[in-house]
Amino acid sequence: MDISLSHVVRLTDNGMHVPLLDGTTAYFNNYWLRDNCPTSFDSQTRERTFDIFHEAEAPRPARVEVTDGALRIEWAGSGHLTRHELTFLAGYSKGAPRPDPADLPRRAWYSDHYPAIARFPQPELLKDKALVARWVEAMLVDGVAIITGMPDSNEGLDDLARLIGHIRPTFFGEYFDVRTHIKPTNLAYTAKALEMHTDTPAEDVAPGIQFLHCRANSVSGGANLFLDGVAVANDLKREFPEDFKLLAETDVGYYCEHDHYDMRSRQRVIELDEHGEVSGVTISQHMFDISDLSQEFLDRFYPAFCRFGRMLQSDKYLMRFRLEATECIVFDNHRIVHGRAAYSATEGDRYLRGCYTDRGEMRSTYRALTTEGRFKG
Ligand SMILES: [Fe+2]
Repeated sequence: MDISLSHVVRLTDNGMHVPLLDGTTAYFNNYWLRDNCPTSFDSQTRERTFDIFHEAEAPRPARVEVTDGALRIEWAGSGHLTRHELTFLAGYSKGAPRPDPADLPRRAWYSDHYPAIARFPQPELLKDKALVARWVEAMLVDGVAIITGMPDSNEGLDDLARLIGHIRPTFFGEYFDVRTHIKPTNLAYTAKALEMHTDTPAEDVAPGIQFLHCRANSVSGGANLFLDGVAVANDLKREFPEDFKLLAETDVGYYCEHDHYDMRSRQRVIELDEHGEVSGVTISQHMFDISDLSQEFLDRFYPAFCRFGRMLQSDKYLMRFRLEATECIVFDNHRIVHGRAAYSATEGDRYLRGCYTDRGEMRSTYRALTTEGRFKG
């Protein structure tokens, strides 16, 4: 076999050590080098069109050289030529996760956050993609934003949600309406408090981004309550690390059951991201299933769970405000815990229309708006 090697590339059984532009040498696997040849990707669809499953043998180089800032490989058997830029190789030389522009550090917030909530006018968002990127950035960092100037229409909400994703149904459907019409004669009507929760935890993957469009709010009372689950969980981690560990590592059951449905899932009360940082919480007392964990384990779990639950009612974290007609609050349903104070009203209307989109699709929107991707052109 005629193997011609540049003196700087050292072949091994499964790959090669390649000198990079910064003077270091990095190892690359032959499958990886062949699979990710620039010719493997269709320039229009940007999809991988080369199928390594169709290769009968493990890829093996016949000739290798580094020249003009690139690694050139002629593959044995097929004679296929691969050219990898050394700058491209450097990005994959350490086995580190690919940099993600949507992986922004979260900024925990507390009860005084209301004046600082990022606000964006809906009509401006529809015209300005850069403003959409700033909105998504606020969603990634703070987990919440208020959209102002909403039209009093169903389409106004549709148009807004579609800026960052597709409407994502739950088993209740695509939209939900929270409507209370109180006639002046209904003096005894009382709207109960809604305890702090995240929505529909009984689904395999609870919806990611929640929209609550206030169409009317002329009742008195009924304050909206929101808190940052990341802030609470981080405090628990610092003050009661054993409790934190239990809530971050135990799968607990959530349910939603009636005559024609029986939804069940297992979730962690505190969710961690790939860095081990708190990314959110899943909490809902009215959907917390009868626990089937061992009773001995529950001796330890319940005190931790209740400590966390009491923290979720603390004034340190609870942001209270009144959502007004023409406003839409948008928040991360896996991070922001929400509820409503009880109200006793004798007149007025209260109407919120809501829907969901996905977090992953929102991050995709952000990447597409702020970066050019890997296969531009
Ligand atoms: Fe809710």
